[in-house]
Amino acid sequence: MTGSTDTSAQAPEIGPPLWLLAELTYRCPLQCPYCSNPLDYAQNEQELSTEQWVSVLRQGREMGAAQLGFSGGEPLVRQDLPDLIAEARQLGYYSNLITSGLGLNEHKVRAFRDAGLDHIQVSFQASDPELNNAVAGSRKAFEQKLAMARAVKEAGYPMVLNFVIHRHNIHQMTDIIDLCERLGADYVELATCQYYGWAFKNREGLMPSKAQLVKAEAEVNQRRQQLADAGSAMKLIFVTPDYYEERPKACMNGWGSLFLTVAPDGTALPCHSARLLPIEFPNVREQSLQSIWYDSPGFNHYRGDSWMPEPCRSCDEKGKDFGGCRCQAYLLTGNADNADPVCSKSPSHDRILAARRAADHATAGLEDLSYRNPANSRLFFRS
Ligand code: FES
Repeated sequence: MTGSTDTSAQAPEIGPPLWLLAELTYRCPLQCPYCSNPLDYAQNEQELSTEQWVSVLRQGREMGAAQLGFSGGEPLVRQDLPDLIAEARQLGYYSNLITSGLGLNEHKVRAFRDAGLDHIQVSFQASDPELNNAVAGSRKAFEQKLAMARAVKEAGYPMVLNFVIHRHNIHQMTDIIDLCERLGADYVELATCQYYGWAFKNREGLMPSKAQLVKAEAEVNQRRQQLADAGSAMKLIFVTPDYYEERPKACMNGWGSLFLTVAPDGTALPCHSARLLPIEFPNVREQSLQSIWYDSPGFNHYRGDSWMPEPCRSCDEKGKDFGGCRCQAYLLTGNADNADPVCSKSPSHDRILAARRAADHATAGLEDLSYRNPANSRLFFRS
């Protein structure tokens, strides 16, 4: 909204879903308090069978999907993962495994490589075993992750490491980068927490203060320069949190434009968080992926811009950010149609400012967080 009075709505052109995310399971041996899975994930125990996943992969590829992510939960708990990888390779996907490394071993890494997996990303919680294991809720996690990061590289993959950054590990930025250098990492994603699912529930205990964020970003920039000066090829990607921006992100590159997520029970979603919205989403058990993508009310709900209220409707940036994130709008305002409150033009931007102020004074320790596990999940079951 910068003075334009053009209120014409654009009919959306629907291209194919180029990126398919297969959330194979919500089961996971870890208990990270920032997990983006739904709070009531343990209510969805009915996972798709191998045959049903194969059908999803085939349909996706026929529609034009080229990138395939295997995620979860922890996708390694699915015993049929090698079969799904082989199917993905045969279909011609570029496939990526997003894993905690728990449940992985050298033999499996080589088997995945031989089956045609293109890429593996291993996530860490911190640069030291104490903090890493406390956040993950597992005493053996850190050593296992170190071993598996090395195994991934030894199998000929690039070493791609992901650290979710929050107020309890943001002071470790230099140590984290040093660890990555010692491991010989190729790509390091330092992704500050985004607040969905369990992370939204724990936001007050996770969100860094502005001062912490500024210091961390300066440290990353300094180490990046040092690495470049030393001729290191290691790439550092620092992802800042939405909550410290003044304009929203173009979430998922626009609703129903590129990304198609299939949840463990077969629910098809325009993003991995969308099942929290009061919208009925289709299921691959009942409908073809083609009709889900092009015809279902759930996927068409926020396509184009005719759904937008003000200030988005007349904003000259609406073609760039699409009004921001629908899930964030719903979580923060109770109405997913609203502008993402991250936007300083949103009438609800004060909620973001209040969250920033709260982060300046937060005192919550790790023990105050709600950890993602089946017992805690049951507290959120709906009848
Ligand atoms: Fe769902 Fe942004 S995370 S639309």
